[in-house]
Amino acid sequence: MRIDVVSIFPEYLAPLDLSLVGKARTSGLLDLRVHDLRDWTTDRHRTVDDTPFGGGAGMVMRPDVWGTALDELLDEDAHLLVPTPSGEPFTQRTAEALAGESHLVLACGRYEGIDARVAEHYRSHGRVTEFSLGDYVLNGGEVAALVVVEAVARLLPGVVGNPESLVEESHGAAGLLEYPVYTKPPTWAGLGVPDVLLSGHHARIARWRRDTALERTAARRPDLVAGLRVEDLDAHDLAL
Ligand code: ADE
Repeated sequence: MRIDVVSIFPEYLAPLDLSLVGKARTSGLLDLRVHDLRDWTTDRHRTVDDTPFGGGAGMVMRPDVWGTALDELLDEDAHLLVPTPSGEPFTQRTAEALAGESHLVLACGRYEGIDARVAEHYRSHGRVTEFSLGDYVLNGGEVAALVVVEAVARLLPGVVGNPESLVEESHGAAGLLEYPVYTKPPTWAGLGVPDVLLSGHHARIARWRRDTALERTAARRPDLVAGLRVEDLDAHDLAL
């Protein structure tokens, strides 16, 4: 997969050299390129923004600078992703869909955002998704780009060493949060580990994990419980 990230703060993306994403890059599984938007400016001050039409506080990113950059980076296969607090929610389902694509281009806005004509223009040429990480406002799209690259890259075949670790995690196919996990020592700070996990009884462990995942999801994310499909529940689930 190829991913291009465009930002006026390319240094913000430095963590993408580390850990699993860094390894995916050096091994060639991920061709990730970070670009400085100002490289596409033509004036002495390398200007990327201007005052908003209609007035108001803050600055808006100019469509002409973004247009020059994106005309160069977007090919036929590319999917343009624009992080913005007014976008559609980015979820594990979004990450799964994006992991099946060949080329993503992330356009990181700053200030009050990117002139709306940029998304409109590229939507008539190809795929464009404006997405939000959640209901809060960040200073720009860079952190969102880090999130997308990490969430997508770990789903690419070969990036996570043991693919089984992708199976039972929160927001997986079951639509539940993950059950609590424990390791050694068996007693810490006066706290033990649930007996069932030390029992070696695989069926009981699986049942306990399912029950605690459901309880946790009900307590922390009732919105997810509402979205569960009845056919995915068994008699024991329904008795909880
Ligand atoms: N840019 C600023 N806030 C954001 C958010 N919540 N999600 C994605 N991009 C953003």
